[in-house]
Amino acid sequence: MAVKIYVTKNYDELSKVAANILAAKVVLKPDCVLGLATGSTPIGTYKNLIKKYEDGDLDFSKVTTVNLDEYRGLERTHDQSYYYFMHDNLFDHVNLRKDASFLPDGSKPDAAKECEAYEEKVASLGYADIQLLGIGRNGHIGFNEPCDEFIQKTHCVDLTESTIEANKRFFASANDVPKQAYTMGIGTIMNAKSILILASGKDKAEAVKNSFFGPVTPQVPASILQFHQDVTLVVDEEAYSLCK
Ligand code: F6R
Repeated sequence: MAVKIYVTKNYDELSKVAANILAAKVVLKPDCVLGLATGSTPIGTYKNLIKKYEDGDLDFSKVTTVNLDEYRGLERTHDQSYYYFMHDNLFDHVNLRKDASFLPDGSKPDAAKECEAYEEKVASLGYADIQLLGIGRNGHIGFNEPCDEFIQKTHCVDLTESTIEANKRFFASANDVPKQAYTMGIGTIMNAKSILILASGKDKAEAVKNSFFGPVTPQVPASILQFHQDVTLVVDEEAYSLCK
């Protein structure tokens, strides 16, 4: 297996290692395309990137970003939209150009049109130089949930009950959680030149084991990464605990 694995003591160390890997890409290729993710896992990574920028060690002025996914039906101003999350956790704190960050637009109701436009945008940028990923407890990446096939391109998905359940803590009630999302497809993700996937905590141990030490199957979407030629898994001891 070609996956490079870094096991860290804890979440803080994981966040530092991940930020160093992304920062190295920006230093080596100042006009790179960074593929970014939302969720709780990358928040520490983004904090470390902001610190590097504030210390004068990192320059985002030529960087372009693309994000994995966005809820369908939320305005970009909604505080649970991924657009809002990215501004709040990274974009507003570094010197990225305002017109250099792309996410699917969840406020666009025509799903087929928006997904096609987003896929074309990412393709026109040459796909991500490095794509940051978190992993769901069921092995999902982006909003690519376990299913019978790997869906290649950006598409609209119905969120599973377990994902709605996991996300309801951020909304007034489960009823307020959007029921659909636009997500990069597995092919869009696999077209990234390199992949950096992060997993932290016991909750993710099963998913890490199944994804990197089990068969490649669309029932465990992240398992496809075993076929990518440049994957780095940064994982803390708890998330790696079933892999020994
Ligand atoms: C986020 C995303 C999701 C998350 C995954 C893990 O853009 O696409 O696949 O990476 O659900 O979420 P956390 O980090 O909150 O455990």
